[in-house]
Amino acid sequence: MVQGVANWNTEQTEEWLQSYVEDWVSFYQKHTSDGKVASYIPVLQEADPDDLGISIIGKNGISIRAGDSDIPFTIQSISKVLSFIVACMERGVSYMLDRVDVEPAGEAFNSIMHLEMKQLKKPFNPLINAGAITVTSILEGRTSDERLRPMFDLLEKMLGYRPKINVDVYESERDSSMRNRAIGYYLLEIGFLESDLNITLETYFKQCSIEATVDDLARIGLILANDGVNPDTDEEIIPRQVARIAKALMLTCGMYDASGKFATYVGIPAKSGVSGGIIAAAPPRVRDEDLPFLEGCGIGVYGPALDDRGNSIAGIRLLRHIAKQWDLSIF
Ligand code: DON
Repeated sequence: MVQGVANWNTEQTEEWLQSYVEDWVSFYQKHTSDGKVASYIPVLQEADPDDLGISIIGKNGISIRAGDSDIPFTIQSISKVLSFIVACMERGVSYMLDRVDVEPAGEAFNSIMHLEMKQLKKPFNPLINAGAITVTSILEGRTSDERLRPMFDLLEKMLGYRPKINVDVYESERDSSMRNRAIGYYLLEIGFLESDLNITLETYFKQCSIEATVDDLARIGLILANDGVNPDTDEEIIPRQVARIAKALMLTCGMYDASGKFATYVGIPAKSGVSGGIIAAAPPRVRDEDLPFLEGCGIGVYGPALDDRGNSIAGIRLLRHIAKQWDLSIF
């Protein structure tokens, strides 16, 4: 049996809270054997399927870490949230929403058929591959490195350091991702791409290969939870409107065709990636009881064993448990 938090009060120490999270992580670590590491990008297969780690960061630097929390991994589809944010900051929200919709697709993240079958005027949303590749084609810059510079600038502002691209993962995806090339060519044919396809795909593969830790995801999650403002410095890092749209998209489309279940059972804006990362942004909430992180928190999870939708299997179960124990749902 997993333990619950009986009576949280703000006098309790981080260590006390941490001991609960450690128990929960070791309980859910056993669930990693129900999933499988992604293999369609060959280098991702080298991840240890048993790993499970979490970081939770709240206001005033309160921070809890448990399990395999030091392992760097590539952010993969989590980068789609960042590219959408950067594109909105570069071009404006209405320009972007004219070119990419905000509706859940109810399809696999790399589905191509809906584009043709539904004769869409724009991709369903920026968090499926067709939408993300369209967004990446809109980023400003001639080369892939120029296009990614504003994303790295934003990351540096949020994290206090400039993350790196994992070149092995980048090359592995670049050399194996025939489906993304197929989606790219189709988008080109129907006129959705705003710039050169090859540079767009190179940029997309690079953004997916940015390396991060669960702490990094939790820090970004905390800023999103606070509508784009760093709650410790009051600095606005992402415009409020953009942060709110990003969270709405995470909630409705962030876990692909499992987004409805995630919203129902966890109830926090979140986004997953095929390397096993999940970013979650739990906004401040009003409750009568004393509960942890009432002022909001960011959560980063890493667990590379995935379920059949491409989401971290143990990571989702762990988040569901924590959301229930701490009443984190926004609903
Ligand atoms: O487009 C791809 O295939 C990957 N680079 C990213 C996909 C991904 O992370 C989907 N996640 N669930």
